[in-house]
Order: sequence, then C-alpha cells, then structure tokens
Amino acid sequence: MSDIRLDHVTKRFGNVTALNDVSLSIKNGEFVVLLGPTGAGKTTMLRLVAGLEKPSEGKIYIAGRDATSEAPAMRDVSFVFQQYSLYPHLSVYDNLAFPLRAPGRNIPEDEVDRRVRKVAELVRIAHKIKNSATRLSGGEMQRVAIGRALVREPSIYLMDEPLSSLDAKLRAELRIELKHIQADLGATFLYVTHDQTEAMTMASRIGILENGNLVQIGTPQEIYEDPVNAYVAERLGTPRINMIPVGALPVNGVPDGTVTVGVRTEHVEVKAAADGPAEIVMVEHLGSENHLHVQCNGQHLVTLAPPAEHWRPGNRAQVALKRPLFFDKGGNRIATR
Ligand SMILES: Nc1ncnc2c1ncn2[C@@H]1O[C@H](COP(=O)(O)OP(=O)(O)OP(=O)(O)O)[C@@H](O)[C@H]1O
Ligand SMILES: [Mg+2]
Repeated sequence: MSDIRLDHVTKRFGNVTALNDVSLSIKNGEFVVLLGPTGAGKTTMLRLVAGLEKPSEGKIYIAGRDATSEAPAMRDVSFVFQQYSLYPHLSVYDNLAFPLRAPGRNIPEDEVDRRVRKVAELVRIAHKIKNSATRLSGGEMQRVAIGRALVREPSIYLMDEPLSSLDAKLRAELRIELKHIQADLGATFLYVTHDQTEAMTMASRIGILENGNLVQIGTPQEIYEDPVNAYVAERLGTPRINMIPVGALPVNGVPDGTVTVGVRTEHVEVKAAADGPAEIVMVEHLGSENHLHVQCNGQHLVTLAPPAEHWRPGNRAQVALKRPLFFDKGGNRIATR
C-alpha cells in the first residue's frame, strides 16, 4: 500500500507561508497532478512528502503510518527533481545503477544490469548509456534523472516537471510510458507540471494550488467543467476561457451577484452574417483547428473553428455564448444548479 495523506499541513519558511493548511488524501495507485503558478507551493508539497522538509504544522501519513518525522530513506519514495542533478563523474549506466547499488540493497549485478538496460530503453537513453553524465543534452539528462527514479520501483513516485526539457514528440512518448509504468506497478504518483495536456491526460485527479492553498482537487473533467472559482477556470483550457463582464454580451439565465461570465472557447458559436454585430479580427491556423479572434460589443473573444470553415479577418458574424459559468465579485463561482 502506498496511499498518502496530508492532514492540515502548513509549511513556513521564515515569514513566507509556502503551504497553508493543506489536507489531501491520495489513494494507492492514484496519479495526482499539481498545477499552479510559480511560487504556489508545488515543490514544497513534494519535498514534504519525500521527507526533505518537515511540516511547520500538521501531519503526513504514508500507507497509514505517521511518517511526519520519518527520514526520506524510510519512505519508499523516489523523486525526480525540478533541477535534475546527476552524478557528473559517473556514466549514464552508473547513474542509473546507483540507487540499486545503495548499501544494504544487495541486488546481484546481473539483476542491476537487467533493470538498468530496461529503464534506459524506456526513457530513450540506451544509445548514450556509456556517455559520461556531463556529455548529455538537457533533455537527455532529464531522461536519465527519470530513469534513476524508475529503476528502484518504489511504491510512490514524486516528479517535479519531469518532462519540461523534452521536445513535443519525446514528451508525448514518455507521457505514455509513465502512464504504463504506473498502471503496471500500481504505483502512486504525485506529479507537477505546467503542461495542460499532461495534466488532462495523465491525472486521475488534478489539484490546483494558489499561494500555498489547495483551491480545488478533482478529476480533470470536474476541474474543467466545474471550477470553483475564476482562477481555476483560467488554469485549464487552451486557448484560455473567455471572461466577459456581465451585461457586455447577451447571456441567458444570469444569476444575481454575477460580475463576470466565463465561456469556454468551444462554447462560443459563430455564424457568418453580413450584418452581424461581431467581426473576425484574426485567424490562427493550427492545422486540425483554427482559433478565431472575434470582436463584439467591445469584447475580445476567442473561439475554435474547423479548418473547413474559411474565415478571414473582416468577416462579420453572429455570436452565441453557450454553457456560461458565472463568477461573483470575489471570483467565486455562483452555483446555478
Ligand atoms: N528553502 C526555502 N527557503 C525560503 N523560502 C522558500 C524555500 N523553498 C520555497 N520557498 C518559498 O515558498 C514558496 C513556494 O515555493 P515552491 O518552490 O514550493 O513553489 P513552486 O510552486 O514549486 O514554484 P515553481 O513553479 O516556480 O517551481 C515560494 O514563495 C518560495 O519562495
Ligand atoms: Mg517548483
């Protein structure tokens, strides 16, 4: 078992509160992705679970036992750091083998060899296995760092933006590899990324951190469709959700107290109309879809359009806003159900 529970965890560094009264349960085998801007407390949360920091208040439970004061080595956790640090004097092979050769592990060398080579394949570094760690590109170093975390097969993986230095193709491949590994091992993942596709595709649940507070946690679909506030609504979705002052454009069923109306790009419908109130001001061609930038009643909206629709700047249109989300003065969502 490898479930993780944070119980009212606060972490202060001097007068900075990096995490503020965070409670969170991660079930065995779950893949939880943390999203949040720089300084939100993501790395701090991973370091607390790893045992590299101690909470100022609250407790951390791993597999049901109170691990708050346990040393990192006791926790059966492996960590891919945001600043991947390899042993520069060792080869790729020896970097990967290092965790397996730790004192007390007594893993036979042929078993070490088998696991190192398997992981090297997985993270696409087998062709550089004899290189010294300093003679690698940033993306290659990052892959070795991921490999070094995988080779031990612990029950909990903590990964801090592990794919950030990779190109889009490798990132997509490794995303799938990591999901397979997680499914095969039944391991628990706590994973930080700024990449929305990673968050949406890999997560069983996404946790949104803002200023040390866990603002919302839920499945990708819940976070996307049912954000608790404007901040969460704006964290997911590319292009970003349209935020419109109430009254600027016609919207049905606006509840009392609404200050801002949020409409996702896929819910802004445009129809060509020579005398329509809206004007297309820019078209971004992305291949499989286009982004239309639309000006209407002084509001700038972004919407999606299939490439078969040949929109040009200057075209006039009618606009309809579907499935609006309503936010109050404080940015909190107003329930409509
Ligand atoms: N060792 C430390 N000493 C003092 N302040 C720290 C320390 N570690 C983190 N902080 C502060 O705690 C807050 C949270 O930092 P953290 O590294 O957890 O952010 P993050 O969400 O990982 O950001 P990023 O996306 O930039 O990596 C920040 O204000 C940071 O300056
Ligand atoms: Mg960080």
